[in-house]
Amino acid sequence: MSSHRPADSRQATSRRDFLKHSTTAAAGAALIGGLSLARSAHAQGSDQIKIALIGCGGRGTGAAVEALNNKAMPNVKLVAMADAFRDRVDNCYQAVKLRCQEKVDVSEERKFSGLDCHEKAIACDVDMVLLCTPPGFRPMQFEAAVKAGRHVFMEKPVATDGPGVRKIMAASEEAKKKGLLVAVGHHLRHEDKHREVAQRIHDGAIGELKYLRAYFNTGAIWVRPRKADQTEMQYQVRNWYHFTWICGDHIVEQHVHDLDVCNWFKQGHPVEANGMGGREVCKAKDQGEIFDHHAVEFTYEDGVKLFSYCRQINGCWSSFSEHAHGTKGFASIQGHGSSLLQIDGQEPQRWRRGEDGHQVEHDDLFAALAAGKPYNECDWAVDSTMTAILGRMATYSGNVVTWDQAINSDLDLQPKSYSWDAEPPVTPGPDGYYACAIPGVTKAW
Ligand SMILES: NC(=O)c1ccc[n+]([C@@H]2O[C@H](COP(=O)([O-])OP(=O)(O)OC[C@H]3O[C@@H](n4cnc5c(N)ncnc54)[C@H](O)[C@@H]3O)[C@@H](O)[C@H]2O)c1
Repeated sequence: MSSHRPADSRQATSRRDFLKHSTTAAAGAALIGGLSLARSAHAQGSDQIKIALIGCGGRGTGAAVEALNNKAMPNVKLVAMADAFRDRVDNCYQAVKLRCQEKVDVSEERKFSGLDCHEKAIACDVDMVLLCTPPGFRPMQFEAAVKAGRHVFMEKPVATDGPGVRKIMAASEEAKKKGLLVAVGHHLRHEDKHREVAQRIHDGAIGELKYLRAYFNTGAIWVRPRKADQTEMQYQVRNWYHFTWICGDHIVEQHVHDLDVCNWFKQGHPVEANGMGGREVCKAKDQGEIFDHHAVEFTYEDGVKLFSYCRQINGCWSSFSEHAHGTKGFASIQGHGSSLLQIDGQEPQRWRRGEDGHQVEHDDLFAALAAGKPYNECDWAVDSTMTAILGRMATYSGNVVTWDQAINSDLDLQPKSYSWDAEPPVTPGPDGYYACAIPGVTKAW
C-alpha cells in the first residue's frame, strides 16, 4: 500500500515484511474480536493493491481485467504474471494491457513460467494473488499463497480429489486466522437472478424442497494437439481438461457451478451419491481419460434428492440450468439467462440476469477489502467441489459412495513431483490411448 510506505524504503519494513508481521498480529486480533491489521491495512479505498495473476488463460485474463476494474478500490495494479507456459503469459499480458493500460505494470523480471512459476509470483511484493490455473494445482498454490500472507481470488473448482479438498480446508482456516480475504469464482452466487431466487426459496416461497435438478450439457471441448518436442507432462498440462488429476473430469470442472447452486438452495451438502457415466463419443487418443457424460442421483441428509446431469457431446440438447421443486411451486434458473419462480396459484415471477457475476464477485471482494471486513467463500466452495468429486467417484466406480468415504478418501490423484520431466500419474498405453475408469472395476475413492 504505497500511501503507507515510508519515504526511505531502505530503513522501512518491506511491504512483505509488514504484511507478514501484520498477519501474525491479526491472528491475535481475531481472538479478541478486533479488526485484524491485515484487513484494516487496506481499509481505505485509495490504498494501492498489487496483484499477481497465476494462470494466464481465458479465465485468468478475464479475472485480471475484472479485478483491475473493480468498483470499490480504483488503485489496483497488476504487477506479476505466471503461467506454466511463457506464450500464455505473453498473450494474456497483451490482452490485459489493451484493456487496462496504466493498471498493468508487469516488468520482464515479473513474468514467470514453468511448474514452479506460482512460487515466484507469490514471492513478489504483492497483496493479492488470482489463482486461475486448472484445479488440480489449486490446493498447493492456495496453500503457498496463504502461507505467504496473500489475499486470494481463486477459481472454482478448488481441487480434484479428497486430499486436495482437505488441503484447501486447512489453508482456508489458516487464512481466516491471518485475516486474509478469500474469494472463489462461483460467479452465480453474485448474480441478481440467483440471489433473488435463493432468498425466496430460503424464505419458504415454494414450500419444502422435494427434489432438485441440475444440468451442464454442452458440446465437446477443445483439444490442443500433441507436439513432437513435448514431454508427456507438458502435453498433459497443455491439454489439462482431458486428465482427471488436473481437471477433475467435467462433472467437477464445469458442473460444479450447478451443484453449488443446488447446495446453496438446500443449505447443505449431499450425504450420498450413486450414478453412471462413460465415454460414448469423445474417446479419441487426444481426448485423454475423462468421461463425456455423467448422471448422478445425490441424496441430502433429509432424503431430498438432487438429480444431476452433465454431458459434453456435440449435436445434443444443451442446458446450463438449476431447478428446485417444492411443495408449493418451483424455481428454474438458466445459467446465462433469466430465472423463474412459480408459486402455485400465482403469476410467475422472473428476474433478468443483471450484471455479470464475474465482475460482481470482484466488486464484492474489493468492497470487503476496502471496508476491512472478513471475507471467505471457502466453506461452501469446498462443499461444492467435494459434492462434484463425490459424483465422479459414484460414476467412475458404479457404486454408492457416501460423503464420509469421499471426503476422507486417501486416493491422491496428484503426481509425486511437478517438473516437465516428471512422470504424470497417467500415461498412454502402447496404442497411444489412456486407460479410463471402468464402472464395477475402478477403485474411485
Ligand atoms: N467461473 C467461471 O465461470 C469460469 C469460467 C472458465 C474457467 N473457469 C475456471 O478457471 C480455471 C482455468 O480455466 P481456463 O478456462 O482459463 O483454462 P485455460 O486453459 O484457458 O487457462 C489455464 C491456464 O493455466 C495454465 N496452467 C496450467 N497449469 C499451470 C500451473 N501448474 N501453473 C501455472 N499455470 C498453469 C495454462 O497454461 C493456461 O494458460 C479452471 O479452474 C476453470 O474451471 C471458471
